[in-house]
Amino acid sequence: MSISKWLFAQWYDVLNSIVEPKVIPYRHLTAGKSHGKTLEVGGGTGANLPYFQKTSSLTIVEPDVHMRNKLSQRVNHLNKDISIVKSFGETLPFEDNSFDSVVTTLVLCMVHDVEKVILEIYRVLKPGGIFFFYEHTVAESFYGKLLQQLLDPIWIFATTGCHLKRDILGAIKVSPFTKLEYDTFNLNVGIPITIPNIVGSVAK
Ligand SMILES: C[S@@+](CC[C@H](N)C(=O)[O-])C[C@H]1O[C@@H](n2cnc3c(N)ncnc32)[C@H](O)[C@@H]1O
Repeated sequence: MSISKWLFAQWYDVLNSIVEPKVIPYRHLTAGKSHGKTLEVGGGTGANLPYFQKTSSLTIVEPDVHMRNKLSQRVNHLNKDISIVKSFGETLPFEDNSFDSVVTTLVLCMVHDVEKVILEIYRVLKPGGIFFFYEHTVAESFYGKLLQQLLDPIWIFATTGCHLKRDILGAIKVSPFTKLEYDTFNLNVGIPITIPNIVGSVAK
């Protein structure tokens, strides 16, 4: 698993460079809107770093050592006070009511337990704090779901754990968060497959 994780960390930025121009608006709507004391869960190689412009402090949780190495290199070049923490979203090593904003982008598809991560994000947010998310999610149409079902095993293998057909919106809706605002849309990545996406925020 470690070699595949290493490979995924190496090709992640290459894959990202293909879709990144389409994804930038959603980084602005999540990382770009975060403010005050901010936590990013699953920071990967640091694709959101340029968009955290309104934060007073930034902590990034990333469990994977290979992703974390790339993230550290990027953070070092920025010369900004950013903490990188080795941990999982399911067990965030922070006190209750610690952050003004929490951000996830393309992470809830990969975690072991989506509900647990959302509850942890709720716990570490201050009352009134905002959780900003941008994720790909389960398709609405029958054929979209079928395609996701067929592609899921190979995609999980190729990405070391990214699930195509998770109902992220459903998981957020049953959480204790309030003031749900979101937009769903299909991300067209230039091949004849569109990817159902969700971007939005909820408040504690
Ligand atoms: C697809 S990448 C997204 C990276 C980055 N957020 C972005 O937008 O490019 C998913 C990241 O989530 C991390 N991850 C996987 N499981 C996790 C978990 N249980 N808790 C926190 N992060 C996790 C992975 O290591 C990976 O870096």
